[in-house]
Amino acid sequence: MKLYGRITGWGKSVPRRILTNHDLEQMVDTSDEWIVTRTGIRERHIAGPGETTSSMAVESCQKAMERAGVRANEIDLIIIATSTPDYFCPPVSSLVQDRLGASRAGAFTLVAGCTGFVYALVTASQFIETGLYDKVLVVGVETLSPAVDWTDRSTCVLFGDGGAAVLIEASHQPTGVLSCELGSDGSDWDALIVPGYGTANPFSEEVLRNREHYLKMDGRRIFKFATRKMTEAVINVVQDSGLTWDDIDLIIPHQANARIIELAARRLGVEPEKVMINLDRYGNTSAASIPLALCDALEEGRLQSGDHVVMVGFGAGLTWAAVVLHWQPERVAEEPVRVEDWPLLSNLFQPVTRVRNAVWSTQVQARSRLQDLAIAARTPISQWQRLFRD
Ligand code: ACO
Repeated sequence: MKLYGRITGWGKSVPRRILTNHDLEQMVDTSDEWIVTRTGIRERHIAGPGETTSSMAVESCQKAMERAGVRANEIDLIIIATSTPDYFCPPVSSLVQDRLGASRAGAFTLVAGCTGFVYALVTASQFIETGLYDKVLVVGVETLSPAVDWTDRSTCVLFGDGGAAVLIEASHQPTGVLSCELGSDGSDWDALIVPGYGTANPFSEEVLRNREHYLKMDGRRIFKFATRKMTEAVINVVQDSGLTWDDIDLIIPHQANARIIELAARRLGVEPEKVMINLDRYGNTSAASIPLALCDALEEGRLQSGDHVVMVGFGAGLTWAAVVLHWQPERVAEEPVRVEDWPLLSNLFQPVTRVRNAVWSTQVQARSRLQDLAIAARTPISQWQRLFRD
């Protein structure tokens, strides 16, 4: 009997302190107008004393368990997606496991940049679908503020702190992750990097002097990568799910820059009301951004039981990942359903679905190529070579 991973609980945690664009105007040479028009961000939460990656993860998990009516000692596994753990060693997942009192649970930390939550969601679903585990907590959480150079206006205006968790439980009713794509292109490994925090270039006085313990980013390179990969990954997962584009109710993209999201949405031909954007309130919270947006979408009533949602992320690595998720958090009568019954209708319509998806995918690719050409035409000649390199 096939098993499925049903999300039954969710919860978020953000620091109390809010840093607005006007606050940043007092710190670096920037303006609210520049930040809003180039990124869409208006404010972000910044961790204060006692607010850490583990504390936000614990609060998010507690809310998720409470919503699902599950106790800590019932949890089998905890996966924390983060690039900003409390310590280099021990893993932050063990701190969270202990503080939750999840005495039966295994725990590990997963690092895949901003894509981490989607990687973790897919990993957790595999543990459930194989029957190994019954209840898994998945967390996306970051305390980026200590990793940000607050004298560098090109990065410090972008990032924020926060976290959110989901609880996934085994179910015989078909639901959860319907299709996924996990990707990595390590040839762009240096596009987003903390050069002086690791074993390749251990922390030293020189690292400190050169400010290499802070995040460095090639924003334009990531921008181009993100719009291309998000579009391709969404096409692939929708096609693999056997659904048509019209069946998708909401897209939850990684919240890095509203311009990246809007460009990708235009390429896909999506109406704005189908795309979740909350980065104006949080900035880029890396691995936390997609689960935070999921929690806000639920609070705002933008996601209903029975809906299909696409989550798509990109980030350091460079990595990308996407899933199509069937959203049905309530536990329906758990009498086993024969999985063969479920896709009966869609099997009948499969040839039609394939043709519709092929037409849609060709349209998106043509639109993307035209947009790339339009962007290239507005780009100084010195950058053309780089633009067409890939
Ligand atoms: N305030 C005012 N001016 C600024 C600021 C600022 N905060 N930052 C940069 N500028 C200036 C630059 O110095 C530059 O000036 P110049 O033309 O005199 O040299 C000018 O603004 C334009 O800079 P660009 O870098 O070309 O600005 P762009 O429109 O590309 O926007 C941005 C920059 C917002 C970083 C964009 O490239 C971007 O969002 N890229 C993707 C970044 C991203 O997604 N990163 C995270 C991915 S992974 C993860 O999420 C952890």
